[in-house]
Amino acid sequence: MRIMILKDYNEMSKKAAKILASQVILKPNSILGLATGSTPVGMYNELIKFYNANEIDFSEVKTFNLDEYYGLNKNNEQSYYYFMMNNFFKHVNINLQNINIPNGMAEDIEKECFEYEEKILQSGGIDIQVLGIGANGHIGFNEPDVNFEASTHLVELEESTIKANSRFFKYIDEVPKKAISMGMKTIMQSKQIILLASGKNKAEVIKNAIEGKITPTVPASILQLHTNVTFIIDEAAASKLESKIEVAYG
Ligand code: GLP
Repeated sequence: MRIMILKDYNEMSKKAAKILASQVILKPNSILGLATGSTPVGMYNELIKFYNANEIDFSEVKTFNLDEYYGLNKNNEQSYYYFMMNNFFKHVNINLQNINIPNGMAEDIEKECFEYEEKILQSGGIDIQVLGIGANGHIGFNEPDVNFEASTHLVELEESTIKANSRFFKYIDEVPKKAISMGMKTIMQSKQIILLASGKNKAEVIKNAIEGKITPTVPASILQLHTNVTFIIDEAAASKLESKIEVAYG
């Protein structure tokens, strides 16, 4: 596990963007695993800057997003599809045939989950997966007491997650109670993982994920078992670490 501690949100975003950019430069047909939430927005902005400066070409890249709300269609402004289009895809030369986001409106959810997982496998697997982290330790929408063996599946969201995500909705009642999410197994099968976290409100969960016991109550703690994972966090998110582990200052 590598830990990179950056001064602030901007530096964290730049570092994450550089890592993704290097991946795409080295392998133009990379398979990227992408995340939503407020944390990766800065990273997407930096990637757009690289693209505008002609430093990266996304034309052969394929993407798989971690999750999508159940019951929201693509045009809903709160859907993760809408988020990805607005924050990233429409600003770069990615081929829209190459983007994959679970369909929250699928009639047969089991089939949708199975096919999503199959598509990832058939693409050759995710080269690099970007993750954020929920204050309760969730990654994707894999909530505490997670099943480490799960692949893409329908998830019931925790009350705390619904509350946290309600900041993007007009009324809390509008927040979907379920989502389709890659499972822990899907995430752990990625060849490389970067987890981004910023701010004091993530300090406790970052400490638990990195230095705590590996436990389903902190889903992100399983990342300790991955052979190529880098936590890219700012000083505020790192403030509770006791740094018994390898620390690389960015
Ligand atoms: C959501 C997403 C996660 C994300 C988390 C943290 O629940 N499903 O993928 O990591 O929120 O979000 P934020 O980055 O806004 O703190």
